[in-house]
Amino acid sequence: MSWSPFKPEVMADPATGHQHLLQSCPVHHCAEFEPPFFTLSRYEDVEAALRDYRTFSSHYGQGPRFTEPQGLLSDPPQHTRYRTILQQAFTPRAMTVLEPQVIALTGRLVDALASGPAQFDLHDAFAFPLPVTIIADMLGVPAEDLETFKHWSDVQVAAMGAADPSIYAEDQQAFFSYLQSRLKKRREALAAQADVPDDLLTLIAREVEDVDDAQSMLQQLLVGGNETTTSLITNAVWRLLQHPEQWQALIEEPDLADAAIEESLRFDPPVLGLYRNTTREVTLHGTTIPKGAKVLINYAAANRDGSVFDAPDQFDIRRPRKRHMSFGLGIHMCLGAPMARMEATIALRALAEQIPQLSLVSDGERIAPFFLWGRKTLPLLRLSTHSSYSSYSS
Ligand code: HEM
Repeated sequence: MSWSPFKPEVMADPATGHQHLLQSCPVHHCAEFEPPFFTLSRYEDVEAALRDYRTFSSHYGQGPRFTEPQGLLSDPPQHTRYRTILQQAFTPRAMTVLEPQVIALTGRLVDALASGPAQFDLHDAFAFPLPVTIIADMLGVPAEDLETFKHWSDVQVAAMGAADPSIYAEDQQAFFSYLQSRLKKRREALAAQADVPDDLLTLIAREVEDVDDAQSMLQQLLVGGNETTTSLITNAVWRLLQHPEQWQALIEEPDLADAAIEESLRFDPPVLGLYRNTTREVTLHGTTIPKGAKVLINYAAANRDGSVFDAPDQFDIRRPRKRHMSFGLGIHMCLGAPMARMEATIALRALAEQIPQLSLVSDGERIAPFFLWGRKTLPLLRLSTHSSYSSYSS
């Protein structure tokens, strides 16, 4: 069987072919993309590669094309320096401070769904506005720029996976100019010792001197902080409604929300895989990967590895918890994982508690980039409503 992430059946269901990769083709070579790339799929190989950043480097980026090192898309010592700066914004204490804001916004969004039309799109009305509003606020982006921001964020990701990224050049330039101008204004305010908000933009403006690195970090936070969490929420609800007995279990026991989010992350990772660049020749399972090659680290396949997860192709929110690869691992492990988990768990719990009578109108539509997995539309039908969400948030 020949596998490629670009095949229509794999785009429609990325799990197609995972067992083939895991069992028969643990080092896959894909010549359909420029540059061609290798794919590692087994849990132990994915884990080893992510931990060995000297061999599997991020110096030339984590996307399918070679890029210049920028911000966190780099190796130590640059990566360590910038990661240490950003970590201040994602401490457990910072998450505790953020939580009431997430609960309040979720409450407003669910209340609107409960009193709005019976048919609605979960992506547009809920899964998109929740994380984008939170991250935009952390980055000091005014509410009126949100829609434009979302567009630019989509463009960034689309350009990474596109056959011809130049079609996005104009939009990308507009996005860069926007970020540069906000950064410049904040730097000027800091220099003038004016009152500035205590947000991520201030942190980066104050601590990151290089303009390109600062911009790359803002960009990564914006894209990382919205598209992926949106996908997590739509994927989790979609999969649970396909398994009504598990959705029912969640309604009866809302404390299952965090287990449901973990199983959704394992089963439907919003980031299917990211790339590394080999710094030396590597021979694995009889295949030699040359120095200087792009290697797709297939988190999604590793999450279906039967040597780690029992019945890996079954969606089961009650399965014993084991570490999945959906946030990566090692020095680049997702910085926003606690925030994504918190937002998605609050979101899922609120839906199950306040509008439990939900059903799928259709499976909606997949987002475009081949290495991401989420839904840009998910039409749902609400059959009846429960008591106000405020009883949950109080
Ligand atoms: C469900 C939601 C999310 C998923 C699935 C996800 C996934 C990932 C993955 C796979 C990586 C790369 C790991 C590696 O290379 O080993 C990553 C890195 C990163 N993520 Fe997330 N992410 C999510 C949410 C967020 C959020 C909410 C933020 C911030 C607000 C964020 C910020 C970052 C940053 C800054 C990095 C780079 C870390 C580094 O290179 O040191 N992510 N994320």
